[in-house]
Amino acid sequence: MAAAPSPPGLEIATTVAEVRNRVQAVRRAGGKIGFVPTMGALHAGHASLMQAAAAECDFVIASIFVNPTQFGPQEDFTRYPRTLEADAALCQQAGAHLIFHPASPEIIYPAGFCTSVEVAGLSTMWEGKTRPGHFRGVATVVLKLFNIVAPDLAYFGQKDYQQQAIIRRMIADLELPVTLRVCPIVREPAGLALSSRNAYLTADEHQSALALSQSLELARQQVAGGERHAAVISRQMCELLAATPLVETDYATLADPDTLEEVAEVTSKVVALVAARVGNTRLIDNLLISPPTAT
Ligand code: PAJ
Repeated sequence: MAAAPSPPGLEIATTVAEVRNRVQAVRRAGGKIGFVPTMGALHAGHASLMQAAAAECDFVIASIFVNPTQFGPQEDFTRYPRTLEADAALCQQAGAHLIFHPASPEIIYPAGFCTSVEVAGLSTMWEGKTRPGHFRGVATVVLKLFNIVAPDLAYFGQKDYQQQAIIRRMIADLELPVTLRVCPIVREPAGLALSSRNAYLTADEHQSALALSQSLELARQQVAGGERHAAVISRQMCELLAATPLVETDYATLADPDTLEEVAEVTSKVVALVAARVGNTRLIDNLLISPPTAT
């Protein structure tokens, strides 16, 4: 593998030992460590996590690892964008101090690796239904990365709502000594949530993809206008998506923000979840919605 480019002031570690040595030095000096796990192809959403980490930690580590175990056999692992040079520049600008970029998948998954973490229940709903095994791959790599980096705080995006719910559960269930921070979704001005996979969209698909955030906004308006029947709201979300060319809906629903179980009535805060295929690209988005009287 080519030597990783390293902008001034940013270190790049490619082995577990390098990361551990650096972390130990920071700890000895009494520094607080913030961690932002990513798969690279970084954008302003990722940058917002690093900025949040830099604002409250002394040393910010971002990992860049396209994790093979969270991709299904028909998914985009091989064509997932890999843009290390641009990513390093973004990390530096966003205030990261060190990138952990494993030199090869074997650094994370050496020969004989056979342990996995399963957050039961939460992992088999919504995204887990369409992407069996996906969250096992996510939970396993995140736990391994936590064990390598040993951060005080870890930063995740609300963009992947189910993912952060699963990581929260894993941290609680396994008493992991890390505090989870969840940062707001960064969107394009027209509403589309930033995603590394937006790079796959043609101009027409990009236009059609706006239907996801529009369906969430519709749900918000419905709740603000007094509608409390979740089925009525989700039907309207589905109708909006179905009326948009190139969009094939996977799900559009209102769920409990913690358990992710579908709700029947909107009596307290809910999360509106949407997933759809736009052309060949699968996109997800979500919005937390509170009825006017609840918080
Ligand atoms: P990745 O898709 O690269 O996302 C890394 C982090 O950036 C996640 O916490 C995600 O929620 C956050 N993020 C993505 N788009 C965002 C946006 N528009 N606004 C705010 N935050 C956003 O999620 C993963 O990688 C992987 O599953 C990982 C956790 C690294 C495990 O492999």
